[in-house]
Amino acid sequence: AGSVRRTADGSLEVGGIDVRDIAAEHRTPVYVLDEADLRGRARAFVTAFTEAFADLAGADVYYASKAFASVAVDRWVAEEGMHVDVSTGGELAVALRAGVPGDRVALHGNNKSDAELERALRAGVGRIVVDSLGEIEHLADLAGRLDLPAPVMVRVTTGVHAGGHDFIATAHEDQKFGLSLTSGAARAAVDAVLARPELTLLGLHSHIGSQILDLSGFEVAAGALLRLRAEVAAETGTLMPEVDLGGGYGISYTGGDLPPTPAQIAPALADVVRRLSAELATPPPRVSVEPGRAVVGPAGLTLYRVGTVKPVTTEDGTERRYVSVDGGMSDNIRTALYDAAYTAAVANRRSEAPAVVSRVVGKHCESGDIVVRDVLLPGDVTSGDLLAVPATGAYGRSMASNYNLLPRPGVLAVRDGQARYVVRPETEDDLLALDVG
Ligand code: LLP
Repeated sequence: AGSVRRTADGSLEVGGIDVRDIAAEHRTPVYVLDEADLRGRARAFVTAFTEAFADLAGADVYYASKAFASVAVDRWVAEEGMHVDVSTGGELAVALRAGVPGDRVALHGNNKSDAELERALRAGVGRIVVDSLGEIEHLADLAGRLDLPAPVMVRVTTGVHAGGHDFIATAHEDQKFGLSLTSGAARAAVDAVLARPELTLLGLHSHIGSQILDLSGFEVAAGALLRLRAEVAAETGTLMPEVDLGGGYGISYTGGDLPPTPAQIAPALADVVRRLSAELATPPPRVSVEPGRAVVGPAGLTLYRVGTVKPVTTEDGTERRYVSVDGGMSDNIRTALYDAAYTAAVANRRSEAPAVVSRVVGKHCESGDIVVRDVLLPGDVTSGDLLAVPATGAYGRSMASNYNLLPRPGVLAVRDGQARYVVRPETEDDLLALDVG
């Protein structure tokens, strides 16, 4: 997180609070969220896109709340000028409770339930991103029956393959999301929307994947959407007012990557829109994007307490230190699921001890329960030390489970030396309350 620093006596401080004080007062593991850092990232996106698209038709930035949906965070990003993207009724409920106006909410999903669609229509959401031909007819029927307006975007599969891992790449042909451009399904969906007076065709949407560090895929996808938009305008007379380029901007997990900043992303996308709109002789659309990870990921760290420390001899005869912490794959599944890279640091003190090859593992009953696969940690790491794993604000708490019946950690927001939970830690009573015997 932005405001992490070492104090004079060597412990980490985040949001003006010493992690030793956090661990003394709160149960570990705990997700620590730096409010000022998060707000700054939200504001940077809004400012960069507003400025870059000022001479075009403007831009909106949606927070992809799947990265971490909570009432406080949705409220903070809305206060910084963002809209909110939700992909379920649960995320919608959180956004509405946060006071996000319905017309600043976008609903996504490849298999939305009737209840979700109805709730979204009743909340007056600004857009529903339709993902199949069947859904278009179904939504039109529902909107007609409820007599509510239904602004829609059509999710287009542009064929761009991008992203950190196959499980999170979304715009290649053979996967479940979107309507294919090359097969003609996207165009058929546009025509289907135009044929239903209950629906308003707002525009086209594309999301090409996640943890993307290179902007060229977004530029290619933008081009594909702008061409389809121009083709539809020429053939039907309807010029869709908007284009959404999705989320997926990567972040640095270990300090090695150099992710693009909002100040680089926005002008690059604006250039494509400017150039292609001129080339296609169509007025530029209003553009929206949906970053999740890049807003909340770097603003969070997980604080663990070290338990057992065990040296193990690897197959090539070298030593690896297994450092067990009091959480694991239940609070961060990303290492096990995507082979994601993280780093870790001793947080409660400075150590001059020589670094040793270490692996941070959890307390779950399987050997794949790894938090940080490879990290150099000081050789004197010992039971009772605190370990901080940075960049866990996105897809950490939101993908957490109760495996082995561990209660999920709380999310502690820190700011100006003050800490408060925005999601309280689960208790054993919470777990038992669901078990009706
Ligand atoms: N918009 C749409 C339609 C999406 O499906 C997603 C992410 C986003 C925006 C936000 O993407 P972001 O800016 O956060 O990369 N659980 C995985 C990531 C899956 C993302 C799914 N969709 C992970 O932990 O890496």
